[in-house]
Amino acid sequence: MGFLQRILGRKKSRTTGHRAGAKQAVPAPNQDAQRVDFFDTVAEEWDSKTKLSPTQEQQLAEIIDHVGIHDGQVVVDAGCGTGVLYKYLAPRIGSKGRVFGIDASPKMISLAEAKFSHDHRFSWHAGSVEKLIEEIAPEGIDRIICYASFPHFADPKLLLQIAAKALRPDGKLAIIHLGSSEEINGLHAGIGDSPVTQDTLPSVRELAVMAQEVSLELSVMAQEVSLSVQTSQEHPGLYFFLGASLKRS
Ligand SMILES: C[S@@+](CC[C@H](N)C(=O)[O-])C[C@H]1O[C@@H](n2cnc3c(N)ncnc32)[C@H](O)[C@@H]1O
Repeated sequence: MGFLQRILGRKKSRTTGHRAGAKQAVPAPNQDAQRVDFFDTVAEEWDSKTKLSPTQEQQLAEIIDHVGIHDGQVVVDAGCGTGVLYKYLAPRIGSKGRVFGIDASPKMISLAEAKFSHDHRFSWHAGSVEKLIEEIAPEGIDRIICYASFPHFADPKLLLQIAAKALRPDGKLAIIHLGSSEEINGLHAGIGDSPVTQDTLPSVRELAVMAQEVSLELSVMAQEVSLSVQTSQEHPGLYFFLGASLKRS
C-alpha cells in the first residue's frame, strides 16, 4: 500500500489546528480547506516517503535546466510543499535571485522554513498561489514552477491566467511531473475517498488548448498578455509543459 493510501486509510476524519509558528494561511479558493488539511496531515512524512531515485533526481535536474533559470531571476515555486525544489533552484539563481515558495498547507511551509531559513534568497509563504502570486512579487516574476502541484489547483485555467499576468515579458510557466497525466490521475484515483481523489492533471495537449483559450480570453479582456506553448512533452514517467509569456507593449 502506498504512502498516500496508508495516510488516508488512517485518517477518516478531518483534523483541526495548525502547528504553532506557521504563517497565517490565506484561505485557498473554493473552500478547499479539506485539501489543505490533507496536505497538513501528510506533511511530516512527506520527505521520507516521497524520496526520488537518483535517476529521477537527474531527470528533474535536466528538466529544471530546460526551464532556463538565470542569475538574479525571480522564481515562484507554486505548491512548494516542504521545499523539494530547493536544491535545484539554489544553485541556479545566483546571489541576487529570489525564490518565493508558496503552499496552501501551513504545515508544509513551516517544514520548508525550518530546513531553509538560513538562505535569505528564499522565502516561504502559506496560502493559495492564486491569491498570493499577485502580491508577492509586484515587480514581476521570471519563472513560475508548478512541480507536482498543478492538479491540486481548484481552477487550472484561472491558474494559467494568473500566471500569464504575473510573468514578466519572456517569463515562463513550467508544469512538471515525474509521471504522465494518466499515471498521476491513476495515483489520485487509487487513493480512494479523499480530498485529492478527483484532482486531475489534464494531458499536455489539453493544457496547450487551455493556454490558447486563456490567451484569447485575455485578449478579449484587452489584456496585453498571452501564454504561448514552448514545450509540451508527456510519456510514462514524465510530464513537462513550458509556456512563455508574451507581453505586448
Ligand atoms: C503533491 S504536493 C507537492 C509538493 C511539492 N511540490 C513536492 O513535489 O514535494 C502538492 C502541494 O500543492 C499544495 N497546493 C494545493 N493547492 C494549492 C493552492 N491553491 N495554492 C498553493 N498550494 C497548493 C498542497 O498543499 C501540496 O503541498
